[in-house]
Amino acid sequence: MKLLVIGSGGREHALVWKLKQSKKVEKIFCTPGNGGISQLAKCINIKADNIKTLADFAVRNKINLTVVGPEQPLALGIVDEFQKRKLKIFGPEKKAAQLESSKVFAKQFMQKYHIPTAPFKVFTTYAEAIGFCKSVEYPIVIKVDGLAAGKGVIVVENQDEANAIIEAIMMKQSFGKAGEQVVIESFLKGQEISIMTITDGKTILPLLPSQDHKQAFEGDRGPNTGGMGAYCPTTFVTDETMEHINDFILKPTINGLRNENITYRGILYCGLMLTDNGPKVLEYNCRFGDPETQAVLPLLKSDLIEIMLAVTDKKLSSIAKLDWRKGFAACVVMTSRGYPNKYSTGHPISGLKKNWSNGNFVFHAGTRKENNNFFTSGGRVLGVTGINNNLKGALNSAYSMVKKIKYEGVTYRRDIGFRAFQPPHPEGVIKNE
Ligand code: AMP
Ligand code: GLY
Repeated sequence: MKLLVIGSGGREHALVWKLKQSKKVEKIFCTPGNGGISQLAKCINIKADNIKTLADFAVRNKINLTVVGPEQPLALGIVDEFQKRKLKIFGPEKKAAQLESSKVFAKQFMQKYHIPTAPFKVFTTYAEAIGFCKSVEYPIVIKVDGLAAGKGVIVVENQDEANAIIEAIMMKQSFGKAGEQVVIESFLKGQEISIMTITDGKTILPLLPSQDHKQAFEGDRGPNTGGMGAYCPTTFVTDETMEHINDFILKPTINGLRNENITYRGILYCGLMLTDNGPKVLEYNCRFGDPETQAVLPLLKSDLIEIMLAVTDKKLSSIAKLDWRKGFAACVVMTSRGYPNKYSTGHPISGLKKNWSNGNFVFHAGTRKENNNFFTSGGRVLGVTGINNNLKGALNSAYSMVKKIKYEGVTYRRDIGFRAFQPPHPEGVIKNE
């Protein structure tokens, strides 16, 4: 089979790496890909949101299956376009992708189908939003409706902060059209986890639960990022909790969508807060998580192609269960100093081996390859995954690889996985350098 993987991050490197292990796969193209991916797949410089050109490419190259990494092409309707042209593609249609592309849609959907989430209100005018913020209990969470590259969710501690944020979103239009509506919701306390599930709109096969580290600095402080590291499986999710999540969140979501005439096919990612009152949905994503994928896929023994084909062919029920390797995987994201704000790129990377042993792996995100040398090209540069029978061992493996890799401005969190050892809340953690 010939595959096309769309995207350029660590998540797509992990997808290409895993898909390549299938005997069914003959060749993989990746658009646009990155330095690391170019060692496994043929990278073609087409941007992920250039849907027509991607579909033309798939036709011309007789691609048997396309796998979409990021959310933008899904929100723009890449799946609808490919299906119109009778091209097989793994991912939800545009209508289904609204679960991620519109927070208002997602929250109203959860309300309608009684899916546990934080209480909220939707605002379309500045005056109403400001008025509401006079009478609420802080902290609250303000979310812009549309996609905002992970920057559209702001936790505010008091009314002055709320006024400033609402003014920026609704008067100064700092998020453009994405900020035309805002959701304001209660702040939830608890452990945050990521549940990704594969579904064909009927059968639901959850992947192992994982935990991301969203904030830039140790102890979960500082600005939100795309994710600074992840480990899998999370120690907080017992079989009983997973059953509860399945019954009260995953099934009602898929069934609710069907009730709205939406058949969800692909990966559904639920960002959950395990609160004292049970798991609640913080967000839906319509794709694999990044960096969760770099921690989850290395533990998956089943053939990912078989699973994806079962989804596109609407017969996921034929796969009884997923096979997992025992143990833990931990992924430490190495970034460029300054990320998620300003950072510099173009620095040579040293210490990258071609083959890491025992399933440990270095997934590339913001890298490019030139004359067999790698250079930094983004904020999140590498995702270094270690595997072991226990979580400490997986973290040690990851960090020992991290320490061998050098480039100017290397930054990473040294506390990935800390919540697994210090529940419920970190005190006295090391400050970021
Ligand atoms: P979202 O894109 O909606 O997941 O928001 C990004 C991040 O903001 C989440 O991963 C959480 O860490 C945090 N967040 C979002 N909503 C809430 C909430 N209601 N309470 C506490 N934290 C939240
Ligand atoms: N790691 C969070 C996300 O993929 O959205």
